[in-house]
Amino acid sequence: MSKKRLSQLSRSIEGKVALVTGSASGMGRATANLFSDEGAKVAIIDRNASGVEESVKEITDAGGIAKGWVLDLTNADEIPRVIEEIVAEFGGLDILINNAGIGASARIQSSRFEAVWDKCFAVNLTALHRTIRAALPHLQKSGEGRIVNIASTEAFGGSAFASPYAAAKHGVVGLTRALAVELGTQGVTVNCICPGAIHTGLTKVISDKHKDKFAHRRVPVKRYGLAEEIAHGVFTFVVPGASYINGATLMVDGGFSIQNNGSSVMPE
Ligand code: NAI
Repeated sequence: MSKKRLSQLSRSIEGKVALVTGSASGMGRATANLFSDEGAKVAIIDRNASGVEESVKEITDAGGIAKGWVLDLTNADEIPRVIEEIVAEFGGLDILINNAGIGASARIQSSRFEAVWDKCFAVNLTALHRTIRAALPHLQKSGEGRIVNIASTEAFGGSAFASPYAAAKHGVVGLTRALAVELGTQGVTVNCICPGAIHTGLTKVISDKHKDKFAHRRVPVKRYGLAEEIAHGVFTFVVPGASYINGATLMVDGGFSIQNNGSSVMPE
């Protein structure tokens, strides 16, 4: 196989401009770091100001190019303004990773249910379409535009007390699929990663003991995943060679979602 043939569909994102939301922490931060290591210029967006600063410093200290924007993604008017600033700073936008999200749990009968639902949908679903709509003209100009939305294994199942979260994450998959069809001819692919249980800021509240117990019972690889392991899944979708992957949902969950729960009836 000639070099030229390989280079037409490369696995390099060198020189691309990538925006990662929620990149002050967890898998967003790991994704921003990986993209920078792979040669991309990275826009860090998060509502956590000190985290944005740390994230940018981590990348620039390692020799990468990054700039941060402190933004609460529930602020609809600010999203287009920040995207235009990113494009002015880096000269375009090729990759959008909709990663920012919050945990949300409330019993359906709870008096706080409505407030939890609204906040969860604002961050975990509504902010995604707003960011996509603001970024789209620039992603189209790229010619190799990439959108990756971060959903969850809760997009394909449900847990008690997590109905707002599960409903919003099911919505992320629906948004991904509909836009993949709608934008199919516009030079932009839209895909989705469904992480399983991952060590991040979101799961810090769960004790190590509970994490171990859960992982041993429910996850074939018997452990929580690392943020960087999600970042590598995301990377797979954004390389130029991923041009025919569109509307896909990739479970990155150590096998959690495909394991039968009953004990095996087959001899070892
Ligand atoms: P994390 O808490 O470490 O990082 C999330 C980041 O999003 C934080 O830096 C936070 O400040 C930012 N953020 C939250 N709301 C925001 C807003 N309104 N505006 C701007 N930034 C905001 O959590 P993690 O786990 O890295 O979460 C990333 C994504 O992964 C989320 O969408 C989450 O729902 C999803 N996920 C996480 C799983 C896990 O086990 N950690 C499992 C499945 C999905």
